[in-house]
Amino acid sequence: MRDDREKQGGAALFSCFSFQDKFGSRLKCSENVCFSDRGSLKGESMEPLIRVVDMCKIYNPGENEVRALDHVNLEIFQGEFVAIIGQSGSGKSTFMNMLGCLDVPTSGEYFLNGTDVSTMADNDLSEVRNREIGFIFQGFNLIPNLTAVENVELPLIYRGIDKKTRRQLAMESLHMVGLDKRVHHKPNEMSGGQQQRVAIARAIAAKPPVILADEPTGNLDSASSREILSILKDMHKNGRTVILITHDNGIADQARRVVRIMDGKIESDILNENFKE
Ligand SMILES: Nc1ncnc2c1ncn2[C@@H]1O[C@H](COP(=O)(O)OP(=O)(O)OP(=O)(O)O)[C@@H](O)[C@H]1O
Ligand SMILES: [Mg+2]
Repeated sequence: MRDDREKQGGAALFSCFSFQDKFGSRLKCSENVCFSDRGSLKGESMEPLIRVVDMCKIYNPGENEVRALDHVNLEIFQGEFVAIIGQSGSGKSTFMNMLGCLDVPTSGEYFLNGTDVSTMADNDLSEVRNREIGFIFQGFNLIPNLTAVENVELPLIYRGIDKKTRRQLAMESLHMVGLDKRVHHKPNEMSGGQQQRVAIARAIAAKPPVILADEPTGNLDSASSREILSILKDMHKNGRTVILITHDNGIADQARRVVRIMDGKIESDILNENFKE
């Protein structure tokens, strides 16, 4: 069931790349991050980048309904590094699907970068997703017959970025994740940790303001997990908003802020005293 849902998420992710980013011309780029015109650069505005108001998600409404999100309220500001932690079945992936505009809530509101996206139609959601969010999944979701650099270029193609710039952006982001020597390797010629680094490079290549990672170290050994976490920390240091979903306290402890979710409700939301830059 879980695998099926992850595959569905992946399919939706790739379908979103098939829309041209008609907002592309309105993107402003700082050194490492792009913001749309309504963007919320730190210091310029106190508007949260993400504002979730009384969000509910009910699967199978009726007798067998599952209340996966139960009146969730949350604000995340630009540049934060937030872990969302909870046990299996607590609603983490459901919440990620909402935050990532892969699905819409049953009720409540979701403002992303100032726009209410909770009632948007599929096409509009795809555009927002493409513009604002870089996804990293536990299952990597790389295309097996494409090389690392081609995988990273894929979302850039659908953004209408020209070939030369595409290659340059893809090489830059593969360099950021330490994969200069693996750019022409296919996924089955790389380790799990390397494949996840390609997935991270793909998520950051278009410089989206939000990086959303669902159990990004779930399939990795502890050394590779440490590498991936250190890359996510670097992303945060470079000004990106990183949201990391995990069931592991040790991993959540790496984030600046830890939001705990239980039975679809936010149980606690604390700043992590152990956080080290
Ligand atoms: N498409 C769906 N249809 C029906 N129920 C669903 C669906 N997706 C999720 N659920 C249910 O909603 C609840 C939350 O699921 P969710 O996948 O968000 O949990 P999770 O915290 O991500 O768990 P895990 O750590 O195992 O990935 C669970 O009880 C799950 O069975
Ligand atoms: Mg999950």
